[in-house]
Amino acid sequence: MPRATVVGAGMTEFGPHDRPLEELFADAAFASIDDAGVALDEIDAFYFGNALGGQAEGDTHLAPKLATHVGLRGIPCQRFEDACATSSNAFKHAVQAVESGVHDIALVGGVERCTPETGLGTGEMTEIFASAAHRQYEQPAGLTFPGVFALLTKRHMHEYGTTEAQLAEVAVKNHHHGQYNPNAHFGRDTTVEAVLESPTVADPFHLMDCCPFSDGASAVVVVGDDRAENFAGEPVSVTGVGHRTDAVPLADKESLTATLAARDAATEAYAQADITPDDVDFAEVHDCFTGAEVLAIEALGFFEDGTGGRAAAEGRTYLDGDIPVNPSGGLKAKGHPIGATGTAQIVELTKQLRGDADRRQVDGAATGIAHNLGGDAATTVVTVMEART
Ligand code: COA
Repeated sequence: MPRATVVGAGMTEFGPHDRPLEELFADAAFASIDDAGVALDEIDAFYFGNALGGQAEGDTHLAPKLATHVGLRGIPCQRFEDACATSSNAFKHAVQAVESGVHDIALVGGVERCTPETGLGTGEMTEIFASAAHRQYEQPAGLTFPGVFALLTKRHMHEYGTTEAQLAEVAVKNHHHGQYNPNAHFGRDTTVEAVLESPTVADPFHLMDCCPFSDGASAVVVVGDDRAENFAGEPVSVTGVGHRTDAVPLADKESLTATLAARDAATEAYAQADITPDDVDFAEVHDCFTGAEVLAIEALGFFEDGTGGRAAAEGRTYLDGDIPVNPSGGLKAKGHPIGATGTAQIVELTKQLRGDADRRQVDGAATGIAHNLGGDAATTVVTVMEART
């Protein structure tokens, strides 16, 4: 059985784009196709992620529409919707299709528009995002996603003494990395003071603890390792993809701080790759809010439970730390166009593992991990990728 390999990767800048979904997506798709050096008529499947097109754009059945737009008319296409984990799940299915021999060369990608360029402001977009919270128990109570992650983070603060200043250090670190990423929505440095002085969104989160609403697209080309050398793009191996879920609503979760779906998905991915957390050189994690990064780095086994809050403040998750986290700037600084985020993490892993990440390159990166969650951490996909030796 072949193992899946990424041979092409591309993305747009994240941030406001005054362009329709299909044009944005085409930019990322052609960047990945050009990188792979693959001919359009060789691609035999399209796995696609978009979460909000129906509500935000009045646009559904997008997979064949975008396939037509990029010249892939006629091949099997599938759209995935898993809240913020949308395109990671698309990627998982492409990996399985290639490894099982069902398809040979798959294009995987995602696109989303969330900024006021859609004609929708912060309030309307917040309401649309909130449709990923429990329809009967949470939406009627007015729970939106800054509030969801504030509740999880408050519980971590209560149990372990994590502080607002420690959370702010996560934002400072990710903006520091983001300044080296030309595709970042907010690629500029900030300070703990600036984070703590920014307006409160949902206690304990200030504006600068939150990821922004972004537009953007990302895409990768996945093939089996038996044919990987036939392409122009340097191949990077996919050695594990774990996918798990947890209870919805929040009140039904066994733990608010353990993010069990992430733990289980990571266990599965590490087992497939035959590695432990100690073997991982860097991680892209789902820092939709600073507190979410703290939960993620504990769930992935990099830090003991209760100690993740100190990691950024102690410098351990910086580019030159013992486990660099979010070298791309993460969702916090790079941005978060929902359906594009999962494959954008795969794009970053590919760049890092090829040694192509310029000023944000992690020294000696050989094994990287992506952690992408959806909803109230109810869906999580964890992917392990390794440089080919
Ligand atoms: N990070 C850094 N800067 C940000 C920012 C962010 N997340 N969001 C906005 N800004 C900046 C803007 O550029 C603007 O700066 P300027 O005054 O210099 O031009 C300023 O902050 C205010 O921007 P504005 O667009 O008016 O902010 P807003 O109040 O409408 O929205 C948030 C800010 C944080 C409330 C909004 O981005 C948000 O809700 N983010 C979370 C999205 C989310 O829930 N995603 C799903 C995760 S699961």
